[in-house]
Amino acid sequence: MATPLRTGLLLALAGAIGLVALLPLPASGQGSGAGTPEIFREADLGLGEQLVREHRCAECHTRKFGGDGSGIYRPQGRINTAPLLRGMVQLCSTELNLSLFPEEVTAIAAVLNRDHYRFK
Ligand code: HEC
Repeated sequence: MATPLRTGLLLALAGAIGLVALLPLPASGQGSGAGTPEIFREADLGLGEQLVREHRCAECHTRKFGGDGSGIYRPQGRINTAPLLRGMVQLCSTELNLSLFPEEVTAIAAVLNRDHYRFK
């Protein structure tokens, strides 16, 4: 009695694993990158997260916008494409004299995109 059920479960499990294994293939194949904008594909997200923390981006934004400061990130506003987002991070970091490398600017922008803007 329990056998068909268990077989079904095993098949479902195998299917799920197969699906997960297949997922990265089309992404690397045709560069559709699971919705990641072209300019952020190579970004080091770990580095970006670290830089956002180090440079206290959220603290200042919180002072102006309250909450956790993320209200400042408005995908519907002026910043409405991935390149504009990267440009804004560049501008802020120049303004703040952060002396970031281009890869660091990209990494920060990629993290903001993943967490707030979600541009494709
Ligand atoms: C000294 C305060 C301050 C610090 C520090 C700061 N920001 Fe900002 N940031 C602002 C203010 C103020 C605005 C809003 C400008 C406006 O909309 O007129 C802003 C806006 C932005 C925007 C645009 C939001 C949008 O969608 O319009 C981005 C992106 C951004 N900041 C990224 C960063 C990042 C990344 C850091 C850390 C490296 C950072 N900021 C650090 C004050 C700061």
